[in-house]
Amino acid sequence: MNKVFMGFGIIVILVLTSPVLSKIGGGDIIFKPKKAAQVTYSHDFHVGKLGLKCANCHYRLYTTAEGHNTATMADMEKGESCGACHNGKKAFDVKSNCNRCHKKQ
Ligand code: HEC
Ligand code: HEC
Ligand code: HEC
Repeated sequence: MNKVFMGFGIIVILVLTSPVLSKIGGGDIIFKPKKAAQVTYSHDFHVGKLGLKCANCHYRLYTTAEGHNTATMADMEKGESCGACHNGKKAFDVKSNCNRCHKKQ
């Protein structure tokens, strides 16, 4: 086996065993607002189950958890962040349904 081929083999093994592949996109994202119970956003549900495309949210609405722009509920009611879809038309509204997103641990 030549060196280039072996190197390629090692990369394939690393990619196949990488935990990143066992989750879709960015996995579960946890938001911890100070004045409300925490919210878990699930890539598995939105991408895996609903079949949304990455480009529905990236990078128009979001980049990464580290580069997160905090949105308030008032921002969401104006269509930012989760409110781009959770407006009572595409998905359940942010003006109610609080505990479908905010879950006490
Ligand atoms: C319905 C919206 C939505 C869709 C669709 C979506 N994402 Fe995300 N993604 C998010 C949110 C929300 C975050 C967290 C960003 C933040 O906190 O600002 C995120 C974060 C990420 C991150 C960074 C994770 C981290 O810990 O920083 C990656 C990587 C990512 N997404 C990949 C993908 C890929 C790949 C797809 C398509 C397969 C996808 N996303 C589809 C909403 C979405
Ligand atoms: C690109 C559109 C889109 C964006 C952005 C989006 N969602 Fe959703 N979400 C949906 C749709 C569509 C559904 C399914 C329809 C429904 O339940 O009303 C859904 C369902 C959900 C559910 C219900 C999951 C279940 O198990 O029943 C939760 C919780 C949720 N979203 C949280 C969030 C949070 C938190 C954000 C922001 C960080 C977000 N979503 C952003 C489209 C979106
Ligand atoms: C679609 C999911 C979703 C629904 C429904 C929702 N929230 Fe939120 N909420 C979030 C997310 C995600 C954050 C964190 C946003 C961020 O950090 O950018 C948040 C942040 C907050 C905050 C802190 C920011 C602020 O506006 O002061 C409060 C308080 C809050 N939510 C209360 C509520 C109440 C009350 C309801 C119901 C009337 C509600 N939320 C419905 C997802 C949701």
